[in-house]
Amino acid sequence: MKKVVIINGSPRPDGNSAAMCGFAAEYLSRNNIDYESFRIYGEKFSPCIGCDVCHDTGTQTCVFQDAAADIIRKCRAADSVFVALPMYGRGAPGHYKEFQDRFYVEYDFAKNGFTKITSPDKKLVVAITFGGSPDSVAETICYNIAFAFQDLGYGANECLIFGDQRHKREFAQSEEQQKAVENALGWLTE
Ligand SMILES: Cc1cc2nc3c(=O)[nH]c(=O)nc-3n(C[C@H](O)[C@H](O)[C@H](O)COP(=O)(O)O)c2cc1C
Repeated sequence: MKKVVIINGSPRPDGNSAAMCGFAAEYLSRNNIDYESFRIYGEKFSPCIGCDVCHDTGTQTCVFQDAAADIIRKCRAADSVFVALPMYGRGAPGHYKEFQDRFYVEYDFAKNGFTKITSPDKKLVVAITFGGSPDSVAETICYNIAFAFQDLGYGANECLIFGDQRHKREFAQSEEQQKAVENALGWLTE
C-alpha cells in the first residue's frame, strides 16, 4: 500500500500552503491512502552544523536525532511526498531551508561523490505560492527542492506554480488551483 508524506513549509497556520495540505489530506483519506502530515514550522530541530560526523564515520547518521531526522527518515521510507510552501524573499522560508539542509546526511559520498540512486516510482509534488515575483524564481526554488529530494530516492517530480497569491484565502477560493492539486495528487498516487 502506498504511503504519502505531506509537508507544510509555511509558518502560517491558516494560509494557502496549509489549505493545500488540508486538501491533500482529505483527498488521500477519501481514497484510502495512508499518509502522515507535518508542519515544519511547528517542529523542533537543529539546523545542520556541517560537523560531517554523518559522513566521516560512514554511518550516514546525524548527530541530531530530532524531528528533522525523523521526518527525513519517513520521507525516505514513503512512496510519495507532497510539499506546499510559500516563497519568502525569492527563496524558501528560512525554517524550511533549515529542514532541507538536514538532507545533507543523505548525500552518498561513497558512490562517486554526489551520485544519486533514484527511482521513478518515488514521486514528489512541490506546490509553491507567492505574490508578484516572476514564475522563473518559483521554478528555481522547486528545482532545488526536487534536487534535494533526489538524495532520498525521489526520481520523479511535478511542480505547481501559484503566483499572484495576494491573500491567504486564495487557494481555498480557487477551483482552478484545487483542480490542479487534485490532478497532481492523482499522479502522485497512481
Ligand atoms: C516574509 C515574506 C516574504 C515574502 N517574499 C515574497 C517574495 O519574495 N516573492 C513573492 O512573490 N511573494 C513573497 N511573499 C508572499 C508570499 O509568498 C505569499 O503571500 C504566499 O501566498 C504565502 O503563502 P502561505 O499563505 O502558504 O504562507 C512573502 C511573504 C512573506 C510573509
